[in-house]
Formats: sequence, structure tokens, C-alpha cells
Amino acid sequence: MTVRDLLEMKRRGDPIAVLTCYDVLFARLLEEAGVDIILVGDSLGQVVLGYDSTLPVTLDEMIHHTKAVRRGAPHTFTVMDLPFLSYQVSDEDALRSAGRALKETGVQAVKLEGGDEKACSRVRALVQAGIPVMGHVGFVPQSIHALSGNRVQGRGGDAAARIRAEAKALQAAGCFSVVLELVSGTLAAEVTRELAIPTIGIGAGVECDGQVLVLPDALGLNPAFSPRFLRRYAELARDASLGIAGYVSDVKARRYPGPEHTFAEEA
Ligand code: KIV
Repeated sequence: MTVRDLLEMKRRGDPIAVLTCYDVLFARLLEEAGVDIILVGDSLGQVVLGYDSTLPVTLDEMIHHTKAVRRGAPHTFTVMDLPFLSYQVSDEDALRSAGRALKETGVQAVKLEGGDEKACSRVRALVQAGIPVMGHVGFVPQSIHALSGNRVQGRGGDAAARIRAEAKALQAAGCFSVVLELVSGTLAAEVTRELAIPTIGIGAGVECDGQVLVLPDALGLNPAFSPRFLRRYAELARDASLGIAGYVSDVKARRYPGPEHTFAEEA
């Protein structure tokens, strides 16, 4: 999979399947399943590290987890999120952060949030240095406080026009694709038609070129989180709880380990 293959998938109308990932075991499963793109998202902050937003996530934390993902899925096109304040201040910061991502983890691309002139300037700087960039507009979690929480974006004429303009500006700046998060299906469909690069939707309806979900949400590891756009493909929290309770009860009742788990003194 390359940037060019992704553009070709859009041209052919082949849906692009993207999932987030943060560790080696799930990375292996994602690669085996043939996911098109792995995104090491800064959702890491909430779903793995227990922060209440993506804001505290550091570049070192992103790199640490991305290295693990790359070890589990060395053949899958992987994108690493640039975390909050690793690119907002200057083009130079963006270049240093994205450079570390590519050099230290081996990812093929980075993702950054926003579509205003500053974000586009960061994209141009990275693309000029040969670093592919995925954009991200609509609900942008690194601006959660400015946006007053998780809410659908782009409702109303001006707001919708701004998101369309941002997506187009990111394409003009050189992004190879753009995530559309929490926008109406109508707006996402319009943006998807207007762009030559693939749109990857999350809570953005049925007409995006691809879809992305946060893996623990999709696998039911995070059952308290059930937004309208989510479909659960497994109930891992339930299965894990049953497994853990079974282990504890077996140990307490001396049902585990059994003779079959016990080494003899000599073979
Ligand atoms: O951090 C993340 O997981 C993301 C996806 C929700 C697109 O940015």
C-alpha cells in the first residue's frame, strides 16, 4: 500500500478500511485481517493511557506505541498522529516531530488536525520534506475545549462552508487524504465528491471513501462509549471479564493449575 495506491482506490471506488491501533498484539491481528491503513491515533491518551482527552499525550508516548505497532504490522501502511503542541507552534516543530515519527518508528505518514492557514503551512512544510500527511477536519479532538466538547461540526451554512474550504485547502497544501470526523452525511458526501484525495470518515455517514474506528470502541473494550455512529464488532470487555473472573475463581478453588500444567522432575 502506498499513497498512490490509496488515490487509485478512490478513483476505482474501493472503500478504504482504517482502524486505530496502539500495541503489537492487535497490530498483528489488523495486519492479518488486511486492514488498508493503521492509524496510531492520539486517542491513545483516552483508550490506553487513561487521560480524559488527547491533550496530555506526548510525542514520546506516541513514538513508543507506534514502534510496538510497527513491530506487529511491519507490512501495513501506518500513519502516526502528531500529538497536541508537537506541530502547532511552527513549521520547524512540525518538521522535527514528523521527522522523529518517520525515523524512529518507520511509519509512512503522519496526521495532523485542522484546516486553517497555519495547519496548511505545516502540511506544505512536511510535504516539501517528503513526508506524506493525512489531514483531519470537522470535530478535531485536540481543540475539544474550544469546540465545547464532542459535537457534530459543520451544521449551518457558514460552518459547513468552512469545513469544505478547509478540506480543499488541505488537499491544495499536499495532504494525501483527510479524516472527516463528526460531520453530517450530506456535508461529508459533498466534500468527498469535491476532493480528488480520499476522505476517511468517523461519524461522517456512508459516502466517505473510507472509514476509521477507534479499535477498542469497535471491539467493545470500552462499553461505556456508545455514540450513534459506532457499530461494535465484538464484545471483548464482556469476554475478558468472564475470563478474568474464571481465572480468579479457579485459583481460589484450586482448579488451576492442574496436573496437565505441571512439569515433571525429569522428562
Ligand atoms: O486519534 C484518533 O484515534 C483519531 C481518529 C478518531 C481519526 O484521530
